[in-house]
Amino acid sequence: MTEQNTEIGATRLRSRSWFDNPGNPDMTALYLERYLSFGLSVAELQSDRPIIGIAQTGSDLAPCNRHHLVLADRVRDGIRDAGGIPIEFPIHPIQETGKRPTAALDRNLSYLSLVEVLYGYPLDGTVLTVGCDKTTPACLMAAATVNIPAIALSVGPMLNGWFKGERTGSGTIIWKARELLAAGEIDYRGFIELIASSAPSTGYCNTMGTATTMNSLTEALGMALPGSAAIPAPYRDRQQAAYESGLAIVEMVKADRKPSDIMTRAAFLNAIRVNSAIGGSTNAPIHLNAIARHMGVELTLDDWQDHGAGVPLLVNLQPAGEYLGEDYYRAGGVPAVVGELLRAGLLDGDALFCNGKTLAENYAHATIEDTRVIKPLTEPLLDNAGLTVLSGNLFESAVMKSSVISDSFRARYLSNPDDPEAFEGRAIVFDGPEEYHARIDDPTLEIDENCLLVIRGVGPIGYPGGAEVVNMRAPAALIRAGVDALPCIGDGRQSGTSGSPSILNAAPEAAVGGGLALLQTGDRIRIDLKRRTANMLVPEEELQRRREALGVGVDVPAPQTPWQELHRKITGQYPGGAVIESAVQYQRIAQERGLPRDSH
Ligand code: FES
Ligand code: MG
Repeated sequence: MTEQNTEIGATRLRSRSWFDNPGNPDMTALYLERYLSFGLSVAELQSDRPIIGIAQTGSDLAPCNRHHLVLADRVRDGIRDAGGIPIEFPIHPIQETGKRPTAALDRNLSYLSLVEVLYGYPLDGTVLTVGCDKTTPACLMAAATVNIPAIALSVGPMLNGWFKGERTGSGTIIWKARELLAAGEIDYRGFIELIASSAPSTGYCNTMGTATTMNSLTEALGMALPGSAAIPAPYRDRQQAAYESGLAIVEMVKADRKPSDIMTRAAFLNAIRVNSAIGGSTNAPIHLNAIARHMGVELTLDDWQDHGAGVPLLVNLQPAGEYLGEDYYRAGGVPAVVGELLRAGLLDGDALFCNGKTLAENYAHATIEDTRVIKPLTEPLLDNAGLTVLSGNLFESAVMKSSVISDSFRARYLSNPDDPEAFEGRAIVFDGPEEYHARIDDPTLEIDENCLLVIRGVGPIGYPGGAEVVNMRAPAALIRAGVDALPCIGDGRQSGTSGSPSILNAAPEAAVGGGLALLQTGDRIRIDLKRRTANMLVPEEELQRRREALGVGVDVPAPQTPWQELHRKITGQYPGGAVIESAVQYQRIAQERGLPRDSH
């Protein structure tokens, strides 16, 4: 993007070095020949029309994003109408529930492959078709690294789920249904029916899980068109947003408006505040920190504590609240939330958006349409709704989502008048989900309401990828006795759809020798939310003895695929976004590293 050309914007389109390079006629012919073979013409490819990629994440393997196969037609229409040439291509599928051992293992793989595609092919800009949990960060991370103009198009949530007159939300209903099954209140058939009711249409999870969170934050960052994130997948407005995103990306290429112009530190801090107000997923800090690192923007867990913790919860969506995706959209979606925070001075209104306007220009007049679903700042669902970042001898950092601490949990664990934010309990330690599933109802463990459940060996290196297994249910006998949840701690993650107030994302993880590796069943743990500490109450000499006996970390299963092995060698811990550490030095490569060499 360095050669001068006034035909379009200030720079010559990078795709023209493939298709219109008088200095290298043989290669030009070689490149043209194959792209002509499906019907494009020389005139089109040698024109000043930008070539726009449509990074297709939808497929039969990725049902959450599958509707993008339909939406892509409207994206193409928009690109054509604005004067661009659409080129659609598949990217490595990532489906959150179907991919074993975890979709999180594939986020960095998808990132890596998309960097190669965006950089190595004749693309001037791209539409990122985002949706299911890891697809959104994978796409934004790659767009940050390559730094060609890029716009995200959300596939949108599914329609609301209903069962016997009540809303059933994706994921959230599973955590509830398995308690009902464990308590014997429903049979297995009823269990499946209840869960299936939550997924009535195409689209991503209709709760405020990681998908709704990351799509909302993508809009708040400025990387998607204002108002586009929350539109349910089957709505006509979703098709219109697809068309408009196609128009917008061509304008972005003409203006040379790149991810680095949009994803600034101010934009990330805005997204952190919006995350608190929407009751966003505990996966958000991992993904947002990862995107920021690839963008070269400083962003740490301290920023989540400092900028997010004091923001109130406004969005009444499951799991923290009652409603679902359709309600969120009808109540005003992301614009309603951003408008409310902006007018209170909680956001930086100067942040630039993909459409060339500032956040303030886009949202100054956005209003809440239904205050049952989105609350005004004067009547929030909860004050101080952000994530609490904890530390101590169990880990250097872990996060807890304050907005999902239930009244019954609060009454049981956080009601000591002398010390209202602290509790102690006896640790029950599971090495991985297999041991947890096999032993949670084992009476010899003598699990009672004063226990904390701990799971380890399930972080980014240990699992590998980091498993969503920390929200463990209490033993069936305790549930029947009315104790519906025990405090949980782990070096894995938790589904954003879970309402469990677990302490998650502990880093460093036990597999690399973090503090959790030293813990033993029966040790006492003290959590103090006010001081933001989490410690095992074990004498230092004893910890030292255990450390010497440990080796590198707790034992974890051997890798089963080549990528699992590679991933373990190159991936960092959660606070740094669990990115491929050596990839961070490759920034803005379309500008900084020149064009790739010719293919022949
Ligand atoms: Fe794909 Fe929830 S499983 S969005
Ligand atoms: Mg998940």
